[in-house]
Amino acid sequence: MTKTFQLKKLFLIFTIFLNISCKDYSHLFNPTKLGNLEVINHFIRSATVEGKSTPEGYPTKDVIELYKKLAQGNIGVIVTSAVYITKNERSFKQQLGIYDDSSISHFKEITDYIHKNYKSKVIMQIIHASACNIQAEPEKADIIGPTAMTDYFSGLKCREMTKEDILKVQQDHVDAAIRAKKAGFDGVQIESNHGYLLAMFLTPLYCLMMDMMIIFLMEIVLILIFGKLILILIFLKLIKKIIMMLIMIIIMIIIMKKIKILIKIKIIIII
Ligand SMILES: Cc1cc2nc3c(=O)[nH]c(=O)nc-3n(C[C@H](O)[C@H](O)[C@H](O)COP(=O)(O)O)c2cc1C
Repeated sequence: MTKTFQLKKLFLIFTIFLNISCKDYSHLFNPTKLGNLEVINHFIRSATVEGKSTPEGYPTKDVIELYKKLAQGNIGVIVTSAVYITKNERSFKQQLGIYDDSSISHFKEITDYIHKNYKSKVIMQIIHASACNIQAEPEKADIIGPTAMTDYFSGLKCREMTKEDILKVQQDHVDAAIRAKKAGFDGVQIESNHGYLLAMFLTPLYCLMMDMMIIFLMEIVLILIFGKLILILIFLKLIKKIIMMLIMIIIMIIIMKKIKILIKIKIIIII
């Protein structure tokens, strides 16, 4: 029995279990393209932390074995767990890291094996941890964010990023992507979810500038709906105050309920 056939059988059982067997999903086994990357099927292994790296962030034998097994299972695209890109800013101790060139050869062992023996593509997920996610040695980390504040969840204080910080974070992502390419990965996925640094820019919980953007957008929508009356109110600055109050109430409710509302975005870049 071929691996594809086994996978097909498993998938069939799964769809019957979900009572959606009436639909035809056989196209999921057909080749496809991800950007300019040829992919053998539509199956993607979503990034999942394994928490088994060395203290330096290198993959251990267990990690290497896991990725080999995923390729053996004929997964079209394998996305690694979140890999940290700056030495002192990581989420937890046994996380994979690619903050300097020393890790390249370790990761190459995984990609070389997969590319030599299987048709799976391998994408490295890169992250810059932030205040709510730095659980490993926060005292060593430079905790930055869009706005200076005490994090709602971790209680860690983050300082507001300067223009230089923004440029450095961009460069850190570029450097990590270059290392990933040298290590043989087919692409990188930029983690902008789960409260990591980039996700902080996507929520008014952390990014006060976002409040201003929301107000601006809401103003435009209201003007489109109600016309000139709203323009007069805006002129009187009334509407801004009302919207600001509404946003503050929503934020208070979110904090009180301890709900982590963060926009989930994962971007894949083929390198
Ligand atoms: C144990 C575990 C570890 C995960 N690690 C990561 C991660 O490192 N990076 C990431 O972007 N998502 C991570 N996720 C989220 C998954 O990739 C996926 O987006 C999430 O489980 C939602 O997918 P689902 O709706 O199919 O369950 C993790 C999920 C689990 C359960």
